[in-house]
Formats: sequence, structure tokens, C-alpha cells
Amino acid sequence: IMSSEADIVVFGGLGDLSLRKLIPSLYRSVVENQLSPTSRIILVSREDISQKQCLQRAEKALRSHLHTDELEPGHWSAFSNRLHYCYLDLATCDERWNMLKELVSDDGSRTRVFYFAIPPGLYGDTCENLSNTELLNKNTRVVVEKPLGYDRESADSINSRIAEYLPEESIYRIDHYLGKETVQNLMALRFGNVLFEPLWDCKRIDNVQITIAETVGLEGRISFYDRAGALRDMVQNHLLQMMCLLTMEPPTKLNADNIRAEKLKVLKSLRRIDASNIADDTVRGQYGAGVVGGKVVPGYQEELGGSSCTETFVAIRAHIDNWRWAGVPFYLRTGKRLAERFAEIVINYKPVTHCVFDEDAGPLQPNRLVIRLQPDERIQLTLMSKELNRQGIRLKPATLNLNFADTFKYTKSDAYQRLILDAVRGDPALFTHRDEVDQAWAWIDPIIAAWKSEKYDPVEYAAGSWGPEKSVDWFGHH
Ligand code: BG6
Repeated sequence: IMSSEADIVVFGGLGDLSLRKLIPSLYRSVVENQLSPTSRIILVSREDISQKQCLQRAEKALRSHLHTDELEPGHWSAFSNRLHYCYLDLATCDERWNMLKELVSDDGSRTRVFYFAIPPGLYGDTCENLSNTELLNKNTRVVVEKPLGYDRESADSINSRIAEYLPEESIYRIDHYLGKETVQNLMALRFGNVLFEPLWDCKRIDNVQITIAETVGLEGRISFYDRAGALRDMVQNHLLQMMCLLTMEPPTKLNADNIRAEKLKVLKSLRRIDASNIADDTVRGQYGAGVVGGKVVPGYQEELGGSSCTETFVAIRAHIDNWRWAGVPFYLRTGKRLAERFAEIVINYKPVTHCVFDEDAGPLQPNRLVIRLQPDERIQLTLMSKELNRQGIRLKPATLNLNFADTFKYTKSDAYQRLILDAVRGDPALFTHRDEVDQAWAWIDPIIAAWKSEKYDPVEYAAGSWGPEKSVDWFGHH
């Protein structure tokens, strides 16, 4: 679907996120005709460079981050024709803001999306300057990146500051995991089928494991990452959001208000983790030197160039204290420099209530539903079935496999592309509400406080492994 006429302004337009993700996603939107022909893309940055230099940087970014078959000269000219550069210091209110204003001037009917790919410390001033320059109108939306704050208090002050200038419905807090194909497929699986929902509770589900494993290390984001760590960087947002979509009650309609209200209830039901259970329910790790994908890599502190107590791995046993999920452990895990890059949700069902087979049939394995987000996108259901061509009954697990790439013949899906277009079209369903951010921090803060008060420092794990031993008890060697 082609969207309405829009100007997309990226603050931090030459930064890492923009070059790695946003520019490639915007390029795809242009190539796939999802932006109307008159839509403009404006990259804003503090660097005093020319339009030509900006285009060179954008082209270089596309070369390094797109597949070669996506790059065609015709596509590049369609994209570069819409690309503008504006040099501006966001924290300063000077006449340069008027240059931006001129670039996006219109009769008031065009949609304006300001994408904040900048440190959250700049969000407030940027909003203030947008307001002073009269760049905010009813067609304006701002997209703000995570991490929203450092703890509950700082998140609240950032959110309040933005709220001085914009109503909640114009604020799009992005969590790119919500743009991933299989995360959205969770809704289709749960609410588009009769098979799963009746079994989606503590009566039938034994435990749930959610993993986002990465093979990369610091990737040069030294100052940001060392201050944040894995809990703030991945659990506060991506992992909790996935868990919410997985466990929320069915909304009456799948619209933004309903989905957000249901997710919020889940966040409010999370059992508190504090000094009393921190050692039982959390695992904290930091990678040491090791081998990842056949390559020898240095440990975290060596990469950092200093000593540090920041975790690069975290596993948590969480509980949702409500009727549906009473007693079901949710194991959440994420880490850098692990053995393999993948993200998945595993639902382990309970064993059958009574076994009717005799011993020769072999052991019964409980059903298992695996929802794989990346690198490949699939849903697998493991069932017990009878081994073929055998006298008597002997049981074996067999797997039904729905591989989205094969079934729907698509090759790529791009979470940022989808979410930017949602913002352009004005659909906030896959963005997070202020209250969700607040509740997520309300659960995260006591964990951080307990790590500190109990001196629960990260244990070292070898790069290329599956993290500290204790988490292997929860997840196995995988
Ligand atoms: C980001 C984190 O939000 O997500 C990064 O800040 C992480 O540390 C990234 O590497 C992972 O995203 P994806 O889509 O590559 O799994």
C-alpha cells in the first residue's frame, strides 16, 4: 500500500543506527513503492558536509548493508532524488532550524515523521526546538528509539519532557522486535486458530523459554553499552515485549489501545525480583576471550580497554502472577558473543496426564512449540507419533514445520521498514505506550538494585559458549 505524502526527517541521520538500519529500510520502502513519489527523506546531522558528501555516505551504507541484488542504479537514483541533507545542532536553537523548516514546508497537509536516532538526553531539547520553530502540527509524529532512559526515574523525566510538546498519540516509541515478522505471527497463531488458545495457560504449559542470542560483541558502542548492559539493552524492551505479546489476554480487537492495555496488565503482573530471590532467579555473565564462528575473539574488558562489571549476558526466571500463568516459569535469556545467532520462543507443554502405552512404546516426550524469529522464520510443533513399519506401537517425536520463507515465497522482511511505514500511516499498534515503558522499568529497577546490594557481579563465560553454567540448567546446551 502506498502511503500518504510524507516527509521523514532522521535526526542522527549519519549515525550508526541510521547508516546500518534506517537508510537501508527507507531505500527498500522507495524501491517497493511504499512511499508516495513526492515524499522526502531528510537526514539531519551535526556534521557540516555537502549534499553530495551525504549522498556518498548513504550510498556507502547501502553497499555495506544491503544484498547486492537489491542494489540497482535505477533504484539508487529514485532513492537519492528524495534524499536531502540538513546540517543542524539539535541542542542549539539557531537560525539553522529555519533551513529545516524550509525543507519540510508545505500547506499543512503532509505527514511529518521525525525519527530520533539520537541519544535520549537530546530528546527534550530537540522537541523544544521543533516546537520553537513551529515544526510541530497535528500531522506530526515523532519516533523515539530505545533505550528510553536508564531507569524508571530517568525514563519518566524523558517521557514527561517530550509530553510537554506532543500528545501521547503522536509519540511512537519504537521496539524493532515488534516489527519482526514472526513476532507479529504470534498474533496470527494465537488468535487466528482455535487449536492453541485453549491450551495457552498454566494447566497445559509447563514452562516457556525466550532467547535472543547474538554472536557479535561490543560493535564499537563502548560508552553506550558499558553503561547500559544486557538487562537494560535487551530485557527491558525486546524480551519483555515479546513475552507480553505471548502471554496477554486476547484483546477484543487488534488495535493499538487494546493491545497496549493487555500488554500493560502482563507487565503489572510480573513477580518482583529483589535481593530475596536475585541469586535464584537471575544469571549474570560477561564474556571472556574465546572462539566465535571459528574466529578467536577478545574478552569484553579487553575490547572495552578497561575493567568493568557490566553484564553482556543475562538469564532470568520470571513469573506472571495472574490466573492464566500461575506457577509457569518464563526463562528469558540474552547474550552477546554466544555460540550462535538466533532468537526464538519455546513453549514446553506438560506431559500427558496418564500414559496408556506399555513400556515397549518408549518414553513420551511432552509437546513443544517453537517459534523461531531469526535467522530463519518458522513455527515448529513437535508431537509424539508412531514409528513406521513396526510391529506394536513404538513412539517417536516428529515435527510439523511451517517455514515462512518456503510457504509464502518471500526472501526478506525488514522490521524497521515495516515500523517506519506504520508511523507514516499513523498506526501505533506496534509501538509502546508510555505506561508500558514505565512498568517495564518498575520491574527492572529492583533487579539492578539487588545486583548491586548483593554484590552479584557477572561471572565470566567463554566467548562462543552458551553462557554461564547455571543458565545451561534452564536452557540446556543450546
Ligand atoms: C538492539 C540492541 O536494540 O538490538 C543491540 O541495542 C542488539 O545491542 C540489537 O544487537 C539486536 O537486534 P537484531 O534485530 O539484530 O536481533
